[in-house]
Amino acid sequence: MAIDPRRLEQLMGRLVGDLGAAYGAALVILGDELGLYQTLAQAGPSTAAELAVRTGCAERYVREWLGAQAAAGYVEYDSAAERFAMTPEQAAVFADENGPAFIPGAYELVGAMIRDAPLVAAAFRSGRGVGWHEHDSALFRGVARFFRSSYVAHLLSEWIPALEGVEARLRAGAVVADVGCGHGVTTVLMARSFPQSRFIGFDYHQPSIERARQLARESGADNASFAVAAAKDYPGADYDLVAFFDCLHDMGDPVGAANHVYRSLKGDGVFMLVEPRAGDRLEENLNPIGRIYYANSTMFCTPASMAQEVGLALGAQAGERKISAVVKEGGFTRFRRAAETPFNLVFEARP
Ligand SMILES: C[S@@+](CC[C@H](N)C(=O)[O-])C[C@H]1O[C@@H](n2cnc3c(N)ncnc32)[C@H](O)[C@@H]1O
Repeated sequence: MAIDPRRLEQLMGRLVGDLGAAYGAALVILGDELGLYQTLAQAGPSTAAELAVRTGCAERYVREWLGAQAAAGYVEYDSAAERFAMTPEQAAVFADENGPAFIPGAYELVGAMIRDAPLVAAAFRSGRGVGWHEHDSALFRGVARFFRSSYVAHLLSEWIPALEGVEARLRAGAVVADVGCGHGVTTVLMARSFPQSRFIGFDYHQPSIERARQLARESGADNASFAVAAAKDYPGADYDLVAFFDCLHDMGDPVGAANHVYRSLKGDGVFMLVEPRAGDRLEENLNPIGRIYYANSTMFCTPASMAQEVGLALGAQAGERKISAVVKEGGFTRFRRAAETPFNLVFEARP
C-alpha cells in the first residue's frame, strides 16, 4: 500500500509532541524529587545559578533542566533577565502538593511503568497476572499523590453530597469502610471532615496499610484506623457506608467483592463506588483521558485483576454498564450514577 506523505507528516508531527512529553517524564520526576519546582515557585524569578544554590544542585544540570521545562511550557523564561519563573497555574500543577491540580504523582506511575515493563511483558506471554504488590513502590506512592488532587477537589464538596442522605449520616456518626484504600488518602480526608464517624481503611497490601497508618497519625485523624484485609473478607457487618475508590476494576473477583459489601452493610447502608471515567464502548474511549487510562490499565489494573482469583479483568475502561452488572450480580438492586468529573464516575448502590 502506498504511503500518503501528508498523513505520514501528520502522524510524525503528532509523535514529535508525544516524544517530547515522554522524554520529559523523567525530568518532571527529577524536578519533583529535587524540589526544583517547589523552590522556583516559592523563590520567584530566578537564574539557573540561584535555583541551583537554593536546591543544593549543580548549576550546569539545573540550567539544562530549566531549558527543557521552558521548552515544554512548564516554566516561563525571561530572556532579557535570563531568569525563569512559574505562573500561578504552573505552580499549582507542579509545586502545590496538597492542592487540587497537583500532577507530579502521575509521573511516578510513568517511572513504575517503565521499570516494570519486563514483568508485564512476561505476563503478556504467559497470560498470568502481575499482582499490585509486585510493582515498583513508585506505583503506590504515585497513585496516592496523583489521586489525592481529585479527592481534594471533589470528594467532600461534590461526591459525598451527591449520595442520598449520606452526608447527614456521616455528620451524625456512622461507621464506614474504605476498601482498597491504598495509602488511605480518602479515609483520612473523610475522617477529618466527619469527626463523629469512624472510618476503617482496608487493603490487602500490607506496606500500603502501614503507610496509611503513618499518614493518618501525622494528620491527627484519630477516628481513622487501618487493617490488612482483602475485599472479600474484611471484617465487620454493620457498615453505614462502604466505599471503593478506584479499585473495583483492579480486583480479580469484583462480583465476590460486591457481594461481600452487600453482606457487610446495614439494611439501609450505601455502597459508594468511584471508578475511572469511561464510556461503555471502546470507541467512546478513544480520547486523551481514555489514552491515559488504557495505558495504566494495560500496565497495572488488568494484570492486577488477572493475578487474583477469578481474574475477571474488567480493566480501567469498563464503563457504567459493566460496573452496574457486576454490582447487581453481587446482590444490589439499586444502582445509579451519582456524580462525575472528567476523570471519574461516582456510583451509588443500595441493597
Ligand atoms: C488504584 S489503587 C487505589 C488506592 C486508593 N483507593 C486510592 O484511591 O488512592 C487500587 C488499590 O486496590 C487494592 N486492591 C487490589 N485488589 C484488592 C483486593 N482484592 N482486596 C483489597 N484491596 C485490593 C490495591 O492494593 C491498591 O491499593
